[in-house]
Amino acid sequence: MKVKRKKYVAIDKLNEKVDLSLMDKTIKKYKGEEGNIIPVLQSIQEVYGYINKSAVEYVAKKLELSKSYFWEVATFYSQFKLEQRGKHIVKICQGTACHVQNSKSILNSISGNLNIQEGETTTDKLFTIESVACVGCCSLAPVMVVDGETFGKLDEKKAIKIISNMKSNDKIN
Ligand code: FES
Repeated sequence: MKVKRKKYVAIDKLNEKVDLSLMDKTIKKYKGEEGNIIPVLQSIQEVYGYINKSAVEYVAKKLELSKSYFWEVATFYSQFKLEQRGKHIVKICQGTACHVQNSKSILNSISGNLNIQEGETTTDKLFTIESVACVGCCSLAPVMVVDGETFGKLDEKKAIKIISNMKSNDKIN
């Protein structure tokens, strides 16, 4: 008889199912290893897009560590995102070169288009806007990076077009 593996699923505060078994590989890899908190948190963020509370509780229990250790580290390092973010991360550079090329207006126009402020996520969980320091392409200022792809020499119109194209692509897919 084939034994079906039990799937651990939690419901998070947004009423979404969280498949905790996605953490099992990480737990196996880091069980009993010293200094495992950061790589485990990185893994949680990679899998769920942010530091999901149910996942922290699950791994802490399985690794026999206090969940408060995880939260201490997660809240200390800015690399860890504590809130659920959008499918698309729109990073708008506010470094000096971009700032003098009016990057603030790019940020404002995308903000207006998506109806969210910097640091927020749209209610459909499609977009998160972040403002970031120099991304290293100053000659292309003003710059934004969407899902890791860099777009330069922007103006408000071009920036909105990029976002609109992404919205249409999401509808098709
Ligand atoms: S300041 Fe924006 S890329 Fe350098």
